[in-house]
Amino acid sequence: MRHSEIRDIFFTYFSKKGHHKVLSSPLVPAKDPTLLFTNAGMNQFKGVFLQDEKREYKRAVSIQKCMRVSGKHNDFDEVGKSEFHHTFFEMLGNFSFGDYFKEKAIEHAWELLTDYYKFDPEKLWITVYQDDDEAFKIWEQNIGIPAHKILRFGKKDNFWQMGETGPCGPCSEIHFDRGDRFGPAEFTEGNSRYVEFWNLVFMQYFKDEQGNLNPLPAPSIDTGMGMERLTSLLQGVSGDYQTDLFRPIIDFTGELGGIDADSPQNRVDLNVIADHVRALTFLISDGVLPANDGRGYVLRRLLRRAAKHGKSLGFTGAFLHKISGRAVDMMKDAYPELDYHRHFIAEVLQAEEERFNHTLLNGLKRFEELLENALQSEQNIIPGHELFKLSDTYGFPLDFAVDLAREKEIDIDYRGFREELSKQKKRSRVSLDQKQKSVKTLENIEKYETVFTGYHNLEEEALLLTIYKESRETSGLEEGEEGILVVDRTPFYAESGGQVGDRGVGRSDRAFFEVTDTGKAFTGDSGAILHYVRVKKGHLKTKDALTLFVNKERRQETAIHHSSTHLLHHALREVLGLHVKQAGSYVGPDKLRFDFTHFKSLASEEIEKVEALVNRKIRESNPIKSGTLKYEQAIEKGAIAIFEEKYSDVVRMISLGDFSMELCGGTHLQNTGQIGFFKIVSESSISSGIRRVEAVAGETGYRYVRESLAVLDDIRNYFRQKQEHIFEYLVNLDKEIKEKDKQLAKKKESGVKIDIDQMIKNGTSINAVPTITEHIENVDRKQLSALADEIKNIAKGVAVLSTNINGKSAFIVSVYRDFTGQLNAGVIVKEIAKTVNGNGGGRPDFAQAGGEIIKNVENFKKNVIIILEKLLPG
Ligand code: ALA
Repeated sequence: MRHSEIRDIFFTYFSKKGHHKVLSSPLVPAKDPTLLFTNAGMNQFKGVFLQDEKREYKRAVSIQKCMRVSGKHNDFDEVGKSEFHHTFFEMLGNFSFGDYFKEKAIEHAWELLTDYYKFDPEKLWITVYQDDDEAFKIWEQNIGIPAHKILRFGKKDNFWQMGETGPCGPCSEIHFDRGDRFGPAEFTEGNSRYVEFWNLVFMQYFKDEQGNLNPLPAPSIDTGMGMERLTSLLQGVSGDYQTDLFRPIIDFTGELGGIDADSPQNRVDLNVIADHVRALTFLISDGVLPANDGRGYVLRRLLRRAAKHGKSLGFTGAFLHKISGRAVDMMKDAYPELDYHRHFIAEVLQAEEERFNHTLLNGLKRFEELLENALQSEQNIIPGHELFKLSDTYGFPLDFAVDLAREKEIDIDYRGFREELSKQKKRSRVSLDQKQKSVKTLENIEKYETVFTGYHNLEEEALLLTIYKESRETSGLEEGEEGILVVDRTPFYAESGGQVGDRGVGRSDRAFFEVTDTGKAFTGDSGAILHYVRVKKGHLKTKDALTLFVNKERRQETAIHHSSTHLLHHALREVLGLHVKQAGSYVGPDKLRFDFTHFKSLASEEIEKVEALVNRKIRESNPIKSGTLKYEQAIEKGAIAIFEEKYSDVVRMISLGDFSMELCGGTHLQNTGQIGFFKIVSESSISSGIRRVEAVAGETGYRYVRESLAVLDDIRNYFRQKQEHIFEYLVNLDKEIKEKDKQLAKKKESGVKIDIDQMIKNGTSINAVPTITEHIENVDRKQLSALADEIKNIAKGVAVLSTNINGKSAFIVSVYRDFTGQLNAGVIVKEIAKTVNGNGGGRPDFAQAGGEIIKNVENFKKNVIIILEKLLPG
């Protein structure tokens, strides 16, 4: 039986039994800070079990994408060792929300397995929770399982909970006996002859942070069957990796690398690669990108481990992206989103694997240094913190390091390593905790519910339900005080989906107040809307009748930017490709910011194309429509849903013309024409694989352009140039200035040269030694020294150059090498210095000195000649 048939049978069976088919939610859980990844089919129904959230059905069936790589359910290290564990897997599940309970759950499971999947009842074994006599009895009496095949186990095996907190309850598991070939007949833990493949959880409690088990409002059912295990049992193969969910990937890897895919020696490497590539493919498709923390870090680790196993098989360059393509082919019927993102997934994988290969090379260098240090130390051990740094910063895999160290008989300080690791784990936990704390917890807030009427009304009569000061409820708010108001109905839009909260004013008979912001309490889709207010006049009391007024201009400007955001999203996908996905946004009256997945910066022609397309869509005056429909229908129609956004069963869809459909709760215009005008202001990168575009539209867009052009006007007027010529004019001006600067510099240089010639001509000869004595103004010591050296070299004699700087004299004596035997510059300089009450000294060929300012240059020069004549007797 192929995996596609297994899926069909499951859905058909439970649909027939009145279950509503629900799509898999993304691997990134919506607004649940307690979870890194979706790890069970029931995650998306957590609020339904707790009755925080209502759906219009009481029974559901799904096949859910799951990851078990962290927290309570973690199989990361089992992959490779076990034939039945995975990081990514699919969970088939049926659910009852306060509808049927144990009896029906067990009967359905049994009927499906034996009548539809045709399992041999003899081979099925059952476990139940130790005190669950009720479940035991149902299995024994209703189904007819012999008592010796129904085993009781404790909390560890037969009590299921989602995480440290959350819905939980006793469970009953169904196991398959694979026969004598796989182990002894005894049903014990670790006997791989028996494979557990379906878990029926009798959801009865909610475990709170103190560890208390609080009864759920209504007993419910949550079941989870491992798709991979079920497939391996139905296909009669030795393990999950031999099923048609994995085997084509493994064969493809074998072909790609020229490797024997059936050799036991290659099995672990091939299995790990197949598992991890599936995980990577689904993760990237669900919006996760490589990073150094959180989800992105898990992705990075998976990729590195897969790449490392590839190296053991002899792969040298990046290869995982090719295998990912095969995984997409196999799974795209069940998950069409994979096909959409095929190229993006490949691009991310290839870039990241290439980066890793590069770091591996660097890491290897560092590791060899560590090995060398360890060899030279007495203990022959590599310190744990060094190793941690190597694996954390360079991404150097620990097992790589261990193998290499072992070859050299070097030990590894595992303890030190683990300490560093646990420090890091703590760090990542802190970031989750903080997220949870930032969620506002207002006293009793869950009691209140506000109806939002602001899609149509901007004014509303409302009843003041409660008032908060800080996070406490209070009955009144005085003039000048700030607080939060909760009302029964409001036209104020609460910040969400990137759109800012409304502002405005309100009044009662006694008071007038300002609404400075609007937010949502964290209670799922429905719940209270929070009005942050300041009382300007009078005082407010609970039960007051209020009239609320939204600031219309601000709302309109915001709507302009929101509808523009949808146009921009559409245009980016059109111009850059379908891999473009929203990764965050800000929509306000002042501008819009749109973050999206894309791998390189946008070329200016691409920006131009996007901008032009948006403006064209504006001019087309396309109608903007909103409507509510079922989530599945919206997705089937091709509406774009956003990751990390939690959608209820009935969703609001915004469509622009017939080209853009998005699930969105925001406030929009009626027609794209109302935007008027759109302008991209900037494009940048915010993290690896995520770009950011900022843009302005409507009145703000007009003002932006107006102000930019005003600057241009000022420039034009100043230079008295026409707009079409101003750029060329300024470029030419700039060139001219640069050219002039160059000429000036040249002139200066050559000007000094002319002086040198002249100076040499002005010189005399004292006893056959050419002598140049010159006074030059406006030079510094350095220039004077350089000049003196040059002159003495050209003239092949003595140069004495003087100047006045800052009220003092400075002079240099430079002697050509032929004469240093008879003339000493140091001596000369000292003699000259005496004439100006100064001092100096230096080497025989070069000396400098200073003294009082030279007032009479001719006198000074004369004295110099006299001194030289004295020192150079004929
Ligand atoms: N939620 C249950 C599990 O994950 C069915 O095993």
